[in-house]
This record gives sequence, structure tokens and C-alpha cells, in this order.
Amino acid sequence: MKQIADFKLVEKQDYSRSVLLRLRSEHPLPDIQPGQFVQVRIDGSPSTYLRRPISIHDVDLQRKEVSLLVQQVGEGTRRLASADKGDTINMVLPLGAGFTMPEKGEKCLLVGGGIGIAPLFYFAEVLNEKSIRPTLLLGGKTKTDLIRLVDYQQFGETFVTTEDGSLGEKGFVTMHSIWQRQSFDKIYVCGPKPMMKAVAKLAVEKDVWCEVSLENLMACGLGACLCCVEDTVDGHVCVCKEGPVFNTRRLKW
Ligand SMILES: Cc1cc2nc3c(=O)[nH]c(=O)nc-3n(C[C@H](O)[C@H](O)[C@H](O)COP(=O)(O)OP(=O)(O)OC[C@H]3O[C@@H](n4cnc5c(N)ncnc54)[C@H](O)[C@@H]3O)c2cc1C
Ligand code: FES
Repeated sequence: MKQIADFKLVEKQDYSRSVLLRLRSEHPLPDIQPGQFVQVRIDGSPSTYLRRPISIHDVDLQRKEVSLLVQQVGEGTRRLASADKGDTINMVLPLGAGFTMPEKGEKCLLVGGGIGIAPLFYFAEVLNEKSIRPTLLLGGKTKTDLIRLVDYQQFGETFVTTEDGSLGEKGFVTMHSIWQRQSFDKIYVCGPKPMMKAVAKLAVEKDVWCEVSLENLMACGLGACLCCVEDTVDGHVCVCKEGPVFNTRRLKW
């Protein structure tokens, strides 16, 4: 069941280009699947009349809290990042279809690039609750992009790449030595499109099942405006409704 609700900003943590926002509702939260997203209303600017889609980074049902990890790229995300503790933020949630849960005993690799690490936090947490410990491979341009690394590490063995070599192995996630050393049953990816395409190509070469979380530009977030369509083997589909998570075999990449 979808909700449109006001949330109070109860905690804000600043990182170099991003912020972590912990938002509390007065009402019980709906059921939320890892990989789903919210549409945030950005008040106070005519250029941000459309809500902005942001992945659900973490959920605390008991405290009625949802966390978002937001990278500042334009007016909307800058305004969101400048919210103060106590401010009210209106969100529609949960939207879209999330990641497919693996079977017990399957070996999972979660690959995140840049701010694409955001939805993998809640996913890894839910996997742990189901007694599945995933392997994580997180990449950034530089070490400060790898936000909450210590917190991610609690969920499973975590490997890191940075383009400048400031942390982990130097290069892109697809260049990490883990690809030569380990094999997986399922790969889940979120990050910039070129990175997701490169991982999807690796998965095809290795004949491994792979899901990616697309970040197409969105307006309504509800399947009405058609501005987020993606070409798939089943024709054009709305990423906001059928996705954002897709099996790579469905995508015409
Ligand atoms: C399903 C989904 C989940 C997302 N999750 C997160 C998240 O967890 N954290 C986060 O920080 N961001 C996330 N994004 C991206 C976020 O929605 C955009 O960065 C945001 O809408 C930009 O709004 P703005 O007003 O700040 O920038 P705008 O002024 O709208 O745009 C600024 C620049 O960013 C580009 N841009 C806008 N949207 C996107 C996008 N989706 N992908 C790539 N470039 C874009 C524009 O083309 C422009 O160059 C997600 C997007 C989708 C579709
Ligand atoms: S954003 Fe409107 S249809 Fe997907």
C-alpha cells in the first residue's frame, strides 16, 4: 500500500558530496522491499515542482523511520540536503519493484558504484535477517565517496575500488580481482549506467543471473507520464513502475 506522508527530519549527517537523512513518520510505515524508492516533494522552488526519486537506504519499522542517502547534483537534491533537523519532508512511498530475493544458500554479490551504493544497504540488512551474508563490492571515484563503509562491512565481506587508488584496489569495480577469485549465483548492481552495463556484460560472460537498478529520469514516479521508459525484450516499459530493478536479460543493452 502506497503512502503520501509527512516525515520529520530527525538526524542529518554530512559527507563530502552527500547527506544521510533519517526521517520519522507519525504513522506506521507500509511494507517496504529493498530496491524500492520514494518520491520526495521539494518545497520552495518553482524549478523543483516535480518530486525527486530517491532510493530507500534504510528502514526502521519500529521507529517509523526511513533513511535516504542523497548526493547533491542540482537544485532539488541541494534543497533536500539543506533541510534542517525538525523540518518536514513529504514523501510518496514505497514505489517501484525491488530486488528479487535469492534462495537460501545462494551466493550473492552486491555491486554499488557512487551514490548507487544507497539501496544496497537496506538490501544487505534484509539478506542478513534471512541468514544470507552477501559479498559487497563498492566503488567510488575517491575514498570519500564510500560513505558508511564500516556499516556496510557488518553485512558481509566487503571489497572496495577507487578510481584514484585512495582506498581498496585502483580502478573500476569490474577490474577488481574478486572476479577472478570467486564465483556467485546472483549479482545485484546499482550505480551509473556505464558501470551497470559493464557489470552486466561480465555477468553474461560468466553466465550468472544479474539484476540492475536503473536510475532513468522520472517525473510522476507512478507510471503515468511515460518519461522514464526503457526498451526491453517485452517492449517499452516504465522504469518507475516495472522497475527500477530489472533482470539484465530483459534489457536491450
Ligand atoms: C529510482 C531512482 C533512485 C534514485 N536514488 C537516488 C539515491 O538514493 N540518492 C541520490 O542521491 N540520487 C538518487 N537518484 C537520482 C536522483 O533522483 C537525481 O539525482 C535527482 O532527481 C536530481 O534532482 P536535482 O533537482 O538535484 O537535479 P536536476 O536539476 O534535476 O538535475 C541536475 C543534473 O543531474 C542529472 N540527473 C537528474 N536525475 C538524474 C538521474 N536519475 N540519473 C542521473 N543523472 C540525473 C540531470 O540530467 C542534470 O544534469 C535516483 C533516481 C532514481 C530514478
Ligand atoms: S516517471 Fe512517470 S511514468 Fe515513470
